[in-house]
Amino acid sequence: PEAINIQELANRMSERAVDVIRLLMKQGAMHKITDVIDADTAQLIAEELGHTVKRVAASDVEEGLFDAVDDSTDTEPRSPVVTVMGHVDHGKTSLLDALRHANVVSGEAGGITQHIGAYQVTSPESGKKITFIDTPGHAAFTAMRARGAKVTDIVVLVVAADDGVMPQTVEAINHAKAAKVPMIVAINKIDKPDAKPERVRTELLQYEVQVESLGGEVVDVEVSAKNKTNLDRLLEMIALQADILDLKTNSTRPAEGTVIEAKLDRGRGPVATVLVQRGTLRIGDIIVAGAEMGRVRALISDQGDTVEEAGPSVPVEVLGFNGPPEAGDRLAVVENEARARQITSYRAHRKRENAAASISGMRGSLEQMMS
Ligand code: GTP
Ligand code: MG
Repeated sequence: PEAINIQELANRMSERAVDVIRLLMKQGAMHKITDVIDADTAQLIAEELGHTVKRVAASDVEEGLFDAVDDSTDTEPRSPVVTVMGHVDHGKTSLLDALRHANVVSGEAGGITQHIGAYQVTSPESGKKITFIDTPGHAAFTAMRARGAKVTDIVVLVVAADDGVMPQTVEAINHAKAAKVPMIVAINKIDKPDAKPERVRTELLQYEVQVESLGGEVVDVEVSAKNKTNLDRLLEMIALQADILDLKTNSTRPAEGTVIEAKLDRGRGPVATVLVQRGTLRIGDIIVAGAEMGRVRALISDQGDTVEEAGPSVPVEVLGFNGPPEAGDRLAVVENEARARQITSYRAHRKRENAAASISGMRGSLEQMMS
């Protein structure tokens, strides 16, 4: 049901909440300032106080922002987005590192991934690009999924051959299943003397992950991030899976994407790592993500280079937000700042409203704005 908190209603009319309560009392209802009243009652009160009421539906504000349903113009092929998941220390970052021939692990504090990294790797075989997302644990993935963000096309499950299936391996399996994305198992650390890849395959059976050699359909690849063993084969298997998915996009439309992570950087201000999913993001574009807006001031690639634009499946750091958005927020380019302000103020408002509603023990969100 559509409702509004009394304090919020008073604020929006620049009236005192106590006057709103007094009017409600005249109508025979006793209320506290934190109470939530329905939209019709709120309208009556507002009119009684001499205000004109204009109701705005959520659909009016958000309409046209994401035409996710209309994908008829998605005709260009795009690179797959692969999320690397697995138990702590099973070698996710090392594997990505080896794939991109860089060295991230040694630069990390204590070797533990502090944030999500997003990188593009070019397969030496096909020359095709693959976008990888490295997750610190699964909290970020869960948060994004809870917020309806769908960024991953394929999950690579990393399992250390010397350690086997562990609690976070199981979590990752459940995530992949819930997200309904195909999974490829990378059995890592096969260079280790105590590596038991066969045991990993058997353990996976318990969680209904049946690899090909055991009669199932899940592809598994034995790798060593340390010795760079079988990495080409892993890339090939990802490329093959991507071909099956037949991923398409449209690079010519205004950009749409998802915020992978965002922070407030001391020197650079709000910085958001964004995965562009459709269209092309360019310097100067006016953007909204969640309740934040801005104008793209700079784009920085996964290589640390300043770039002019970023197309579909490209991860990029975006500078120019007025404040850091949240992981999982959808990014969109809008036509002008007035539109951006309208959308973000509406969302910020809704956010406050939802918080207030949950505080006063009421569920449901505000669907109206009053003036
Ligand atoms: P978190 O980000 O903390 O969850 O860890 P991670 O899964 O990213 O693991 P990381 O890549 O940081 O590797 C953990 C440890 O395993 C490091 O000491 C790596 O050097 C080691 N390691 C990773 N891959 C291999 C491998 O193929 N063989 C051997 N012998 N060691 C490896
Ligand atoms: Mg890591």
